[in-house]
Amino acid sequence: MNFHILTLFPEMVMNGLNTSIIGRAVAKGLLTIEAVNIRDYAFNKHQSVDDYPYGGGAGMLMQAEPVFLAYKAVEEGILNRKAEEKEKAEEKEKTKEKEKDVVTGEAAEETAEEILEHHENDKPLRVVYLSPQGDTFSQKMAQDLAREEDLILLCGHYEGIDERVLEEIVTDYVSIGDYVLTGGELPAMVMVDTISRLVPGVLHNDVSAEFESFQDNLLEYPQYSRPEEWHGKKVPEVLLSGHHANIEKWRRQQSIIRTKERRPDLLEKCELTEKERRMLEELY
Ligand code: ADE
Repeated sequence: MNFHILTLFPEMVMNGLNTSIIGRAVAKGLLTIEAVNIRDYAFNKHQSVDDYPYGGGAGMLMQAEPVFLAYKAVEEGILNRKAEEKEKAEEKEKTKEKEKDVVTGEAAEETAEEILEHHENDKPLRVVYLSPQGDTFSQKMAQDLAREEDLILLCGHYEGIDERVLEEIVTDYVSIGDYVLTGGELPAMVMVDTISRLVPGVLHNDVSAEFESFQDNLLEYPQYSRPEEWHGKKVPEVLLSGHHANIEKWRRQQSIIRTKERRPDLLEKCELTEKERRMLEELY
């Protein structure tokens, strides 16, 4: 998956995303992250990107043109890369075709079909504008966005961005919560991190991405590592038993109890068995 971040502070984003799991995934080629400096597209003497808002009011606004040009540069890069990939795929198919033709005589049609299919999958680009006015980011939204091959994240600064360019390029408005930050860079980093760990191969084992907090609307069960006893607190007996079915049952119960105590709002959206509902009734 390829992330393209339009920002006035590219070092901030890149420095925040080049370590640990995300940094390793980039090194392995599972992800690419590019931060494009909007200021590079300010074609005036002082390379300024902001101006006073019409009608007055506090602060400055990011102007439409540099944002638009930065977006167009990223779009062009993506389209060029895709065209190259397509060309390579077609080249490969052609050689295959020739090899197959000798034996079966019917491979040409199949290959044309495959290429057409490839073209059909080209969807319009998603451009996310990070703003407290957007839909609240969630695990579900991350799962949806993780299906994109390219994702463009637009970070505002100052008092925001000229509305006209937003109307022209933005497909999704996303907020990371009901509070106001100084810019969209931290929210963009939150999104890249959350989405990246859903990309196959980024986490060591893909099972952990599926079973954690918020999947199924249940919080994660408590976990323990060595030593068996710490500050007088023992690891629950069942986890030392080696009995996998019992361990799974205990973990599911703990997840339900924890969700009931810490996020009862989530429990309402969760599918519980009759037995699990009875357990909750007995406990609370
Ligand atoms: N920009 C400023 N505050 C924000 C927030 N809460 N979410 C997304 N983008 C923002």
